[in-house]
Amino acid sequence: MNTKHLIHPEDFTVQELNQLIQIAQNILEDPQDYKNICKDKILATLFYEPSTRTRLSFESAMLRLGGNVLGFSDASTSSVSKGESIVDTIQVISSYADLAAIRHPKEGAPKLASKYSKIPIINAGDGGHEHPTQTLTDLFTIYMKKGNIKDQKIAFCGDLKFGRTVHSLIRTLCRYNIKEFILISPDELTLPYELKNKLIEEYDVKLQEVSTMEEVIGEIDILYMTRIQKERFFNEADYERLKNSYILDSSKIKLAKDDMIIMHPLPRVNEISYEVDKDPRAIYFEQASFGVYIRMALILKLLGVDCTCLK
Ligand code: CP
Repeated sequence: MNTKHLIHPEDFTVQELNQLIQIAQNILEDPQDYKNICKDKILATLFYEPSTRTRLSFESAMLRLGGNVLGFSDASTSSVSKGESIVDTIQVISSYADLAAIRHPKEGAPKLASKYSKIPIINAGDGGHEHPTQTLTDLFTIYMKKGNIKDQKIAFCGDLKFGRTVHSLIRTLCRYNIKEFILISPDELTLPYELKNKLIEEYDVKLQEVSTMEEVIGEIDILYMTRIQKERFFNEADYERLKNSYILDSSKIKLAKDDMIIMHPLPRVNEISYEVDKDPRAIYFEQASFGVYIRMALILKLLGVDCTCLK
């Protein structure tokens, strides 16, 4: 049997994505039903790059399913520091765990690992490329807060060049037939040209590019904020020049619809003022909490655990 991996969001059909969302909702409603379902299963979390939410929500997900977790959160404490390749590492880990979530600064590293792995590999973020499990979290959040995914007008704001969460989510939303996106970014941090072309040519989407939040905030259903990705810049001066490009504060959200939601994959730096947190439209911490349930659903799917009998 072919081992199923999640490297790109396209590895799942829209029907499979919807099934994951349904399972995540079932788990959220009845977590007790799932508490031993992965007994004796082990998740490896191999994080070659820092993380709070992705790694810990994966670990929380596996523990809540009754399974176990091993791994590293700092590659310098592993044999990577002695020069071991990811190809060798994964061939070893394949006999220690039942599936592995890998975050790596190099684009394509989880995909390379998947070619040598006997166990399912999950891309937990690879460089500025993709972050498919954040996409699952975002889809589940939109579904839970808005009731459906397809009829939303969404604006993405901030670092659209390096923001891997945006790259993965926007392509996936195209598959849900969202035909119009609003992109708000500095000229130097626009969505990569190849991705923009792909969206237009393959999905026939309309992309409106603007330079300020104020000109569109009154007409959108979802505002997806992102931080300027300091770690991907080649020089500090460029980061310093761009880091304050967009700051969402109370004066700006006064212009927004009452039912607009503000999402952010987190971590935040300064792009959302703390005063915004108490606005009911600010749902980014709830979004992070949804990440646990959708990752529980993903673990079950990749391990082939049949939970249809539970509902
Ligand atoms: N959203 C996200 O990927 O957060 P972490 O970098 O903390 O995992």
